[in-house]
Amino acid sequence: MNLRTLKIISILVTVIGAIVIWQNGIFRQFGDQSGYEPIQPINFSHKIHAGDNKINCTFCHSSADESAVAGVPTATNCMNCHSQVLKDSPEILKIKAALDNNQPIEWVKVNDVPDHVVFNHSRHVTAGVNCNTCHGPVETMARVSQFSTFTMGSCIDCHRRHQGVVLDAGGNPQFAAENTPNRLNAPTDCAACHH
Ligand code: HEC
Ligand code: HEC
Ligand code: HEC
Ligand code: HEC
Ligand code: HEC
Repeated sequence: MNLRTLKIISILVTVIGAIVIWQNGIFRQFGDQSGYEPIQPINFSHKIHAGDNKINCTFCHSSADESAVAGVPTATNCMNCHSQVLKDSPEILKIKAALDNNQPIEWVKVNDVPDHVVFNHSRHVTAGVNCNTCHGPVETMARVSQFSTFTMGSCIDCHRRHQGVVLDAGGNPQFAAENTPNRLNAPTDCAACHH
């Protein structure tokens, strides 16, 4: 093997190595879990429910506008429809079994900020921030994956864009004068997000 071939091989190895490292996210910001897409105990599809059948997000995540957690529906909620719809499908029989055995369905949490962080859905939702702004196009997802990074920097970035503004119909911040009703002032002080 001559020197030239060796050089070419070593360049190739470096380039491929860099691509592999980049794809595995070593250059990502610390704490970035975006793209996390765990397999769930039941093959539940948002595309079928929220997309094709246009069921509203808050029909299932009913506490998003009034409490810290958006909430995930119980097996009983599922069976409101599935005691009729596709009731003999193997995936639906798993829901029925959970209900019959009085066991909760063990959904794997996708989005998860650390316990030392205060996050509350209700204020965001009532302020007019859309689910999709933070969670992406969930209605197209056959399996949910984490869309936003939810690092401290990403929360603060958005808060800076939501100071002295009101949201237009599309949920975009627009500058607003001091006494405008519903004028937003998202906090950036440490104590707001850390207690
Ligand atoms: C028919 C009920 C139903 C509807 C409608 C629905 N969801 Fe869900 N959602 C679920 C269930 C069940 C889970 C837990 C299983 C999973 O992650 O797929 C879930 C999980 C999620 C998660 C991940 C939760 C986590 O662990 O971080 C997000 C985000 C989410 N839904 C957002 C939405 C949005 C946005 C919409 C509207 C576009 C929507 N959902 C509509 C039932 C529903
Ligand atoms: C408002 C009614 C409604 C609710 C509530 C609902 N579903 Fe569905 N689900 C549907 C419809 C409609 C379909 C698609 C039926 C079809 O394709 O013919 C479906 C399809 C499914 C399928 C696909 C089954 C297969 O064999 O292809 C699964 C799995 C499923 N739902 C799970 C759930 C779970 C889990 C819940 C509770 C978190 C839930 N559903 C709540 C209406 C509902
Ligand atoms: C400002 C960003 C933001 C908006 C807007 C938002 N979410 Fe979330 N969502 C999050 C974060 C952050 C988490 C993780 C919370 C945690 O770990 O405590 C989360 C978690 C969830 C979960 C998991 C269960 C829970 O409550 O922790 C569901 C389901 C969910 N969101 C659905 C929704 C739906 C539906 C909407 C719209 C009605 C919505 N979210 C709007 C940021 C957002
Ligand atoms: C898409 C933009 C956006 C993102 C992303 C976002 N926020 Fe907010 N946040 C807002 C807006 C808008 C308000 C409401 C401001 C107001 O009430 O004037 C708010 C308010 C808050 C408040 C004060 C109200 C309350 O609920 O107590 C806290 C705390 C908060 N956010 C924490 C977080 C954390 C933690 C994250 C990241 C995990 C985050 N936010 C991500 C836009 C955002
Ligand atoms: C808008 C919400 C928000 C504000 C304001 C905020 N933080 Fe955070 N902070 C977060 C979130 C979300 C995390 C967890 C994600 C991460 O580690 O990036 C975090 C993580 C941290 C951590 C732990 C980092 C680690 O190694 O896990 C420390 C320390 C911290 N914040 C200190 C501060 C201080 C000091 C301030 C004020 C200058 C502040 N934070 C303001 C949201 C916020």
